[in-house]
Amino acid sequence: MHDFAAAIRTIADYPKPGIRFRDITTLLADPAIFRAAVDTLVAPYKNEDVDHVAGIEARGFILGGALAHQLSAGFVPIRKKGKLPHDTVRVAYSLEYGVDEMEMHRDAVSPGQRVLLTDDLIATGGTAEGAVKLLRELGAEIVAACFVIDLPDLGGRKKLEALGVDVRTLVA
Ligand code: PRP
Ligand code: ADE
Repeated sequence: MHDFAAAIRTIADYPKPGIRFRDITTLLADPAIFRAAVDTLVAPYKNEDVDHVAGIEARGFILGGALAHQLSAGFVPIRKKGKLPHDTVRVAYSLEYGVDEMEMHRDAVSPGQRVLLTDDLIATGGTAEGAVKLLRELGAEIVAACFVIDLPDLGGRKKLEALGVDVRTLVA
């Protein structure tokens, strides 16, 4: 068994006092652990029909590209506002340490397409909830949402499950 938790570094008081920042760069830099994390996250969906993996900027892009490759699916970026060049849908959201807005290209997903949502971490779930709203606005069917890290005390997983989204994580 791979010890994913041991591969994640914790930084105190980043980006704000009182936040214990879970830094996955150490996990990503370890070839065996990164491969195992991607393989474990993708396993439940290998026999599912997945059209696109949607990754949330920025750390969700790293995982999302790898998951999409393994599923022979397309990759769709969910970006912080102002970064996408074409016509977009936009939503405001709050996260553990701030507020922001995120966007998707309006033509990124067609109604009925099956999308696997991914990010490195779910804390309050505000970011993932915003992503779910955007995907549903475009008519996507959300197969599941998967994350390396769940911070259960912050309630994000329950928030997504209450929206009817199946959630999978590697480490709590
Ligand atoms: C982090 C993380 C998630 C989000 C989770 O992203 O990668 O996207 O916070 O927090 P929540 O569950 O409370 O919403 P961040 O906004 O720091 O962006 P980054 O990946 O660009 O560093
Ligand atoms: N995003 C929201 N909360 C976080 C945390 N504690 N560590 C890393 N990313 C986060």
